Amino acid sequence: MSTWQGPPATCSTSPFVIEPTIDAVRRAGEDAAGRLRAAFTLDQLRELAAELLGKQGELAGVKRQLGSLAPDERRTVGQAVNESLALAQVAHDERRALLAAEARRQQLEAERLDLTEITSRPRRGHLHPVTQAWQRLEDVFIGLGFRVVEGPEVESDYYNFEALNMGPGHPARSMFDTLFVDYGEPGSTVLRTHTSPVQIRAMQTLTPPLYVVAPGRVFRRDTPDATHMPVFHQIEGLVVDKGIAFAHLAGTIQAFTEAFFGPGFNSRLRPSYFPFTEPSAEFDIQRPDGSWLELGGCGMVHPNVLRAGGIDPEEYSGFAFGIGIDRMAKEFNGVDDMRELFANDLRILEQF
Ligand code: DAH
Repeated sequence: MSTWQGPPATCSTSPFVIEPTIDAVRRAGEDAAGRLRAAFTLDQLRELAAELLGKQGELAGVKRQLGSLAPDERRTVGQAVNESLALAQVAHDERRALLAAEARRQQLEAERLDLTEITSRPRRGHLHPVTQAWQRLEDVFIGLGFRVVEGPEVESDYYNFEALNMGPGHPARSMFDTLFVDYGEPGSTVLRTHTSPVQIRAMQTLTPPLYVVAPGRVFRRDTPDATHMPVFHQIEGLVVDKGIAFAHLAGTIQAFTEAFFGPGFNSRLRPSYFPFTEPSAEFDIQRPDGSWLELGGCGMVHPNVLRAGGIDPEEYSGFAFGIGIDRMAKEFNGVDDMRELFANDLRILEQF
């Protein structure tokens, strides 16, 4: 069924001739403007414009008769014709703008595709499991009274090794599969192999008592396997205060383990060796099923390290620890192979 489009555009088929008088011309102009304003469609408007404003139109007809008028009349009537044509033209233009806008609106409405049934909403992502573990670790340590500090990923040999009691040629350097950067003296700039250099930077810039953690990315020339990646993440902890003893370290590790993993988990310290701590230990966590997992190293800060940080070991003592964040993320989420976390396979990552 078609909708009613208004009266036909050309009710009067033969344009009747207008008398060449000012009044008649003005009336014709107003009449034309009125009819143009009443056009229902762009097609109608086009037809009306041809009839009323074109060369074959009524007002154009008057123009042709001007020659037969007395010169005075010719001028005034001619002027009236021009004014009437201009009036009708304005009415036409306004109407056309309105009808065109309406036609466009109708077209858009008609062509709109309702896709709500075939597209789903944009999927919402989430933080990577390592970032989640990183943030959770920060939260837990902030809860234990620590503050978060940062250090650079590209380090000098001095901060990465020497200030940590590993002078040039120290055999302990071979514990770290170092990646050297081609900058400065050969071998003087490295991608930091651990977050421990931030200990020195923190001691140099802050005044004790210090309770800081330094999370960050570290690098080693390692082949990826189920528990190692050449780029990985650690969180370093450093406490420097008066009267700090090994018991504070053990208590902090246990408090942290329970806060992070939950009450079913236990921790233990095993004697170990690190050049920057004396004594040193590895710490493991015990899962509720009784099995153990090595999480990091720790110990009492070596006096040489305190001195490198500008702190008097006679006055202050401290403990430090370093935890692998990726291992925590792996453990926390029950991922078997660390490489899964970095393969960027959404089917894996979406699960966390
Ligand atoms: N930096 C050591 C590593 O990457 C881990 C570590 C051990 C950090 C003992 C410490 C520490 O702060 O006291 O293997």
